[in-house]
Amino acid sequence: MAHPAALGLLLLGLTSTSALAAELDPQTGFKIAPGWETVRNNCTACHSSQLVTQNSGSREHWLSLIRWMQDKQGLWQFDANTEQTILDYLSSEYGPKADARRPPLRADQLPENPYRQPAQTQ
Ligand code: HEC
Repeated sequence: MAHPAALGLLLLGLTSTSALAAELDPQTGFKIAPGWETVRNNCTACHSSQLVTQNSGSREHWLSLIRWMQDKQGLWQFDANTEQTILDYLSSEYGPKADARRPPLRADQLPENPYRQPAQTQ
């Protein structure tokens, strides 16, 4: 019989992974969350789902991509509800990346470079 402590660790491991990572649809790689099927049905006819899942950004970003595809790439119009569902899903599951939100530090805000050599005078 497995050691009870080992079993506890195993269970802990299982619950913490499922809490952290969203489940992915094995076919498309989309995160399983409200609205994902609508996105799958409307966003994989012309290109791979990976083009969608590799992208990320605000609601405005996704809306402008959709408008661009509607204007230039032959993407069909959505009724208001469908568009809402798609934008809700994309902006919450593929929203702005945390590290993209913070602008880079200015040089004078950076810690001192420990490797910088004092000027050599000989
Ligand atoms: C009618 C065809 C069509 C459909 C349906 C479609 N797209 Fe696109 N999409 C395109 C084309 C064409 C491109 C440009 C592909 C390329 O550059 O290789 C593109 C590019 C993209 C890109 C990459 C944009 C970039 O900056 O490189 C994303 C993200 C994207 N689509 C998301 C979506 C989403 C989300 C949906 C569903 C709401 C969707 N697409 C549905 C035609 C479509």
